[in-house]
Amino acid sequence: MEKLQQALEKARANRAAGLTPQGAPYAMAGVPQGATLQGGGPTQAPPPETGATPTGWAPSGRGHADSGSWRALAQMHIDPQTIATNRVLVTGGNNGSAHYDILRTRLREEARRHSARRIAILSGAPGAGKSTTTANLGLSFGRLPFMRTMVFDFDLRQPSLHTLLGQSPASDMGAVISGETGFAGHMLRHGDNLAFGLNRGPVANSGALLQSTQLEDFLDAVQDSYAPDLMLFDMPPFLVADDAHGFLQQVDGVVLLVEAEVTSKAQVDLLEQKLSALTRVLGVVLNKCHFPDESDTAAYGYY
Ligand SMILES: Nc1ncnc2c1ncn2[C@@H]1O[C@H](COP(=O)(O)OP(=O)(O)OP(=O)(O)O)[C@@H](O)[C@H]1O
Ligand SMILES: [Mg+2]
Repeated sequence: MEKLQQALEKARANRAAGLTPQGAPYAMAGVPQGATLQGGGPTQAPPPETGATPTGWAPSGRGHADSGSWRALAQMHIDPQTIATNRVLVTGGNNGSAHYDILRTRLREEARRHSARRIAILSGAPGAGKSTTTANLGLSFGRLPFMRTMVFDFDLRQPSLHTLLGQSPASDMGAVISGETGFAGHMLRHGDNLAFGLNRGPVANSGALLQSTQLEDFLDAVQDSYAPDLMLFDMPPFLVADDAHGFLQQVDGVVLLVEAEVTSKAQVDLLEQKLSALTRVLGVVLNKCHFPDESDTAAYGYY
């Protein structure tokens, strides 16, 4: 039996017995937490990318995984040049990916502070750059060899991470969550410590699926059997469908993306208020800023 399947049965049994998973990650839902939009660019350099064994940042005891279970995930081939045309950068050190490394560092600090392992990337309106940021952040976290990161495309209405990463998955996360498609065969691993859960196309009934106990059990089972230190979720826009709204119960926090010169301060405040009633806002990212000294636009994080 697939490792995840065993964990799934355990999660269902726990639910039936009224037990919450060990170190349940939902504790922060409903805690109002302000994150302010502040000016200024990045002020700190990313830490040196050293380390060997993934150990993560959260207290021990929530899931365990030998590296064999990660190695068993199918390996993906990424063509750096192709995906660079989608603004997705595989290697660190160049100008574009350095911005995402800084964002990663700040997010990592925030997540550690709040023991957040499940983080949704969200915006109010479409097109703010959620998927681009999620892909880059995922690859950036993947460059930290001491962390295991899983990235899921939970924009099930209009999935795009597979396109951004130049992949053609045979199935989708809807089929994986419902058990029709095996997890280990569907996930795509990049290196030893980063895996993507992508979609081949739109998934029916996405709103209901993202609020279902089936999904809750699925995430617990993933945590239990693969012990990712971090799960990042690319989401549909918050104000367009109820998919993200329902799903926020499942995460420890959100990163709110704001499109520079498009979203007003009043809109950001309102969104932040709404999100804070549902989960912790770990930070607000002002995306697509233009800086006079840069030839390109970049993502910057503000915490
Ligand atoms: N930092 C950036 N600078 C310039 N362009 C960007 C940046 N981030 C994303 N984009 C561009 O913005 C467009 C929308 O990006 P993306 O698809 O990531 O947004 P999204 O929020 O996921 O959209 P949707 O709500 O439709 O899912 C793309 O053309 C992308 O290349
Ligand atoms: Mg998107």
